Amino acid sequence: MKLADNKATLSFSNGTPSIDLPVYQGSVGPDVVDIRKLYGQTGMFTYDPGFLSTASCQSAITYIDGDKGELLYRGYPIEQLATQCDFLETCHLLLYGDLPNTQAKADFTKRVTNHTMVNEQMQFFLRGFRRDAHPMAIMTGLVGALSAFYHDSTDINNPEHREISAIRLIAKMPTLVAMAYKYSVGQPFMYPKNELSYAGNFLHMMFATPCAEYKVSPVLERALDRIFILHADHEQNASTSTVRLCGSSGTNPFAAIAAGVACLWGPAHGGANEACLNMLEDIQRQGGVAKVAEFMEKVKDKNSGVKLMGFGHRVYKNYDPRAKLMQETCKEVLAELGLENDPLFKLAMALEKIALEDDYFVSRKLYPNVDFYSGIVQRAIGIPTGLFTAVFALARTVGWIAQLNEMISDPEYKIGRPRQLFTGSAHREVKPLAKR
Ligand code: SDX
Repeated sequence: MKLADNKATLSFSNGTPSIDLPVYQGSVGPDVVDIRKLYGQTGMFTYDPGFLSTASCQSAITYIDGDKGELLYRGYPIEQLATQCDFLETCHLLLYGDLPNTQAKADFTKRVTNHTMVNEQMQFFLRGFRRDAHPMAIMTGLVGALSAFYHDSTDINNPEHREISAIRLIAKMPTLVAMAYKYSVGQPFMYPKNELSYAGNFLHMMFATPCAEYKVSPVLERALDRIFILHADHEQNASTSTVRLCGSSGTNPFAAIAAGVACLWGPAHGGANEACLNMLEDIQRQGGVAKVAEFMEKVKDKNSGVKLMGFGHRVYKNYDPRAKLMQETCKEVLAELGLENDPLFKLAMALEKIALEDDYFVSRKLYPNVDFYSGIVQRAIGIPTGLFTAVFALARTVGWIAQLNEMISDPEYKIGRPRQLFTGSAHREVKPLAKR
């Protein structure tokens, strides 16, 4: 970042001396007012619950222009990456800053492939869960448990430890998600197969059984790979900020990523894809497209507490570019599977059409986000609704790791420790029990 030819002057009406604050600019996007000296110079904090106007860090990884509906991974538009690259090329880009050439891609793919197995002890953690445990409860436990197996690489300040942990986490997440699924359906775990692609291996571990050969569908493999690309990173969203804050204490990468998994689970964040599909199924049960108008009235009624899941975004005030690509992938997969008339897809398209013309949504700039169509395509692939957010966590792991490693490598980084506006009781004395 560099000093802008601008500065901010903060003045106060109560006679507190005004102060000048430097303004910094990045390569693109809003400038920032540097308030690091504010408390020292004024004894005051800024106040920004939800961080609507607060930059928590500087980063060179992902840029979002919410007004334009633009998403860039290391400068490359998501539309080009999703159609011209695969997920492991995108992982290389996010981790190291550039797309790999043929040799670098082969080397990176080999490294990831050779770390896809998990320690045999990992399977015993699942036995403690009920078979109907939510997959995100299982994933939060399994990812945190990984830190118990890699004492050789838990020093986050060691670049080699960070590198091998990144490879291990990217490689093992599909294996763990598939194990969570197999455990829920009472089938044996399937080991990874090194000759398969990253997405193909996940399909194999999810849907193959020891009883018969499983043939990976190239269309589903490509669709899943694209879903992973679309979910890979998204600047300082809630779970990435959680990973950064957790990692800032110096804890190991596996524990920090487990914190990200836990945060992603929430329905306002990564849990929205599961909530969106449940919403579509509810409307379908109640009558489908004929019931859309009635449902939308509930959404617009503040007292109903009903939200149109998969719609709206803190940053995008235009169409989420990922939602467009997800809708296209939806159409391709449904056509390939002969499900063009899938009622839930038709219902989602009807909801979107109404929302994009309704002033409640237009005035609030609410558009479909990445979660609106992702559930429909995952369901068509055969992934159960409860596993959608675990698939999101699988894909987002590379973004979490890239952001964590960027923070640790930043000489300016410190342990994150926000302050507060205190509104509770000021000092008071404890009375003896008999006098309370
Ligand atoms: C993800 O941050 C990221 O980048 C996240 C993510 C990523 O890749 O990491 O993109 C992934 O989390 C996508 C978002 C998935 N969540 C959902 O689809 C859940 C439904 N959406 C909402 O909960 C909401 O839109 C949020 C949480 C996504 C954004 O919330 P904000 O920015 O705090 O916006 P807000 O709640 O202040 O909404 C502004 C207005 C409010 O109405 P008013 O008070 O102005 O009258 O819009 C309304 C909200 O009530 N609103 C909605 C709505 N979303 C916002 N009303 C109905 N349905 C919705 N979905």
